[in-house]
Parts: sequence; structure tokens; C-alpha cells
Amino acid sequence: MDIFAITKEQIDSNSIGASACEALEAGKIVALPDHSLFDKQADIDFLLGLQNNASALHKNVAYKPAAHKVTGATTKTPQEAEQLLQVMSDFSKRALTLLARVCQPYAGKWKTDYASYRPFEEQGRDLPLKQRNDLMHVDAFPSRPTKGGGILRLFTQINPSKDRVWRVSGPFDALADKYALQAGLKEVKGGSAAMKRAAAKLGRALGINVPDRTAYDQFMLGFHDFLKGSEEFQHAPQARQMSFRPNQVWMCYTDVLAHSVLSGQYALEQTVIVPPEAKVNPDIAPVSVLERIAGFPLTPSRGRSLQTV
Ligand code: SIN
Ligand code: FE
Repeated sequence: MDIFAITKEQIDSNSIGASACEALEAGKIVALPDHSLFDKQADIDFLLGLQNNASALHKNVAYKPAAHKVTGATTKTPQEAEQLLQVMSDFSKRALTLLARVCQPYAGKWKTDYASYRPFEEQGRDLPLKQRNDLMHVDAFPSRPTKGGGILRLFTQINPSKDRVWRVSGPFDALADKYALQAGLKEVKGGSAAMKRAAAKLGRALGINVPDRTAYDQFMLGFHDFLKGSEEFQHAPQARQMSFRPNQVWMCYTDVLAHSVLSGQYALEQTVIVPPEAKVNPDIAPVSVLERIAGFPLTPSRGRSLQTV
């Protein structure tokens, strides 16, 4: 029920249509046929080998396609840095090509976000509560507000022998119905969101990078923290465990499907931000669900369009 599987034949014959997008938007995980997103085994061996340098790695290694830059890795030599940049950039290109084939209705409409390499064992990682990946949550990026856009991620893992194990809980509307008001949805409407936007504008004028968060972004960041801190939600009996095998490729909206990673090492991921109007069913996008519960618009542009209707 949580998985929507796609076959190689469907990809090759371009017959997926809107079905994968519909499944993703409904909070399902789209499982793709095993597929290497690397040019050669040597690239995979290179990434697996970087773990030897673990103390120098940060939370994750990030690749920023727009800047063609890698952050979060301290490489030993300029050659190693160059190779890491090349391997991450190749991975990112392949992941984006695959995303465009599986999600044809979105092609050309998304904003390409970062790719990442996750080289650490997730089980028993010692991170502060807000950064813990083993607690169920919906994703929200503190530094990159989506302004109502959906966080669509394609994952793969290069671990040769060990599954990556997740817990998931959805759908988003049930989660929002149960917890959004408790998490402060009504309070993001007024002053503070508007004031933060004004501060962001001022900051930009002064050349300081202040994230320009809409009320939606502000709520989703708070919701992320609220869910991680909720004992009740963390022990929700409806959560399901699922395992991803070596070489598996899967996708989901990580702001729609609540998730946590219990164990696993050596995953990669590419993120794109899909504007709500590009979705096949915009009515079930988190921003729409939350606006219905709140009774007011959570992003300025949607506010304008609501007012002119
Ligand atoms: C997350 O987005 O919380 C982590 C997913 C993963 O690394 O498997
Ligand atoms: Fe997450």
C-alpha cells in the first residue's frame, strides 16, 4: 500500500504517464527497477572508500548543481576533491534524467535542489534532536524555503550488502488533521511570518543571506521539530517499517510522507522542488491541505490568487 512499483519496460516504453506523480503526491514511495546511477564501478568504490576519511566528513556530503560545488567533505588532495566533484555531478545528472522520465508531467517545472551522499551508518548516530534522522518527521529545509513547493527526492544506495531501513507514516492529510493545530498552524498567520519576510528583504538589501520564509515554510519547519519531539507520534502504531536493498532506487515526497531512517549506510539522493501548481493533484499538496485546515493562505502568491477568485 505504501509502494508504487515501476518496471523497466514502463520506463523504456515511456508509458508511465502521470501515474508515478499521482502516487508520489498521495504519499507513496515509487520503487524503480534496480538501476546504477554511476558511470562505472570505480566511482562507487571511490565513494565507499571516502568513508576512511570519515572524521573529516560532516553530516552529509552535498553537491550543489547550480554552483557545481561539493560541500561537507574534507578531501585529502586536490585530485580527490576533483574526483568527488565529478562523481557527484555525474550522479546528479543521471538522477535528474531518471526523475524526468518517471515524472514527465513535472519535467521543466521543478527547481533543481542539492544532491547528497550519506556515508555514515545511521543506526546510533549521535545528533541533536532536530537533526536526528531516526525520529519520524516531514522534511523542511531551514536555509532553502520552498514557498509551498514539494520536496521530491530520488534515493539510491551503493551499499553492497546491507539494506537501508525506514519507518514511514502517512498520509499527510491525516497527519495534518491530527497535529497541525497543536503544532501552531494558526499562529503562523500574522505578525511573525510577515515580520520575518520584511527582515529577509532588508537582509537581502544589505547583502546578508536571510532565508525568505513564507508562513508555509515557517509552519513546516516547526512541524518537522514538533513531530520529532512528539512521543505520541514517534510511537504511532500505524507507522510501517520498510527496507531498501542494495542498488535499489526509490523516490518520495519527503514533506508528504513522514519518515525516519533506522539503519543503513552509503545512500545518495537528489532533491527537486516541485511548485504546487505543477502537481497533478494540487489539492492534496501539503500547502493546500494546511490552508484548508488554517482557513487562510500560507504563501503570498497563493494569497493573491485566492483573493482574485
Ligand atoms: C531523511 O530524509 O530523513 C533521511 C533519509 C535517508 O537518509 O535515508
Ligand atoms: Fe527527512
